[in-house]
Amino acid sequence: MTATRAIKVLGLGGSLRNGSQSERALRIALAGAEEFGATTSALTGEALQLPFYDAGVVDRTDRARELVEAVREADGVVVVSPGYHGALSGLVKNALDYVEDLRDDGRPYLHGRAVGLIAVAHGWQAAVTTLNQMRTIAHALRGWPTPFGGAVNSAEVKFDETGGASEERIERNLRLIGRQVTEFASAQLAAGFGASPSG
Ligand SMILES: Cc1cc2nc3c(=O)[nH]c(=O)nc-3n(C[C@H](O)[C@H](O)[C@H](O)COP(=O)(O)O)c2cc1C
Repeated sequence: MTATRAIKVLGLGGSLRNGSQSERALRIALAGAEEFGATTSALTGEALQLPFYDAGVVDRTDRARELVEAVREADGVVVVSPGYHGALSGLVKNALDYVEDLRDDGRPYLHGRAVGLIAVAHGWQAAVTTLNQMRTIAHALRGWPTPFGGAVNSAEVKFDETGGASEERIERNLRLIGRQVTEFASAQLAAGFGASPSG
């Protein structure tokens, strides 16, 4: 069976820093998803500057509504975080906290969605510990982390503004994550487990 419409892959993450390396890593993974027929969109940096998630508040800012709606409509998600003190950045974690607003949906949280995960840190230790935490969070949100995850050491590889990386191997690995998200989402959709066309 094949999927009957294009797979929608949403990219989330990056940092507020100009030239964010983690955002550039995300863009490569999304390019990998597009190569396999997905349509992609991304909410990065400032688009994720949201009030601290408050479960007791009903009103949401426009940005927060945009984020929640984008996750709701996505067949697959790629999340990228810089490693801050061995963990996810507050910006990315707070954005993920907003997925709580999908708790009462037919597809609650990240249910049924493929989740590509990439951590970018200035050393291996934080890259790996951050990736592990992101996998734990994706599982907690009922998502399906792809078999291949990205632990990127930004002391050893640089991402340029044209979508390239100083190491071709890393670029290939990031594209593979986008591909795996698209493949899993296609299989889910073909089996009838995907989002409806309207989201
Ligand atoms: C507040 C802060 C904490 C950081 N903590 C770590 C760390 O514990 N280990 C590490 O290897 N790099 C650490 N870094 C470096 C970033 O992970 C690294 O520079 C990353 O590439 C930044 O991503 P960005 O370019 O998207 O902002 C830290 C950076 C900041 C700003």
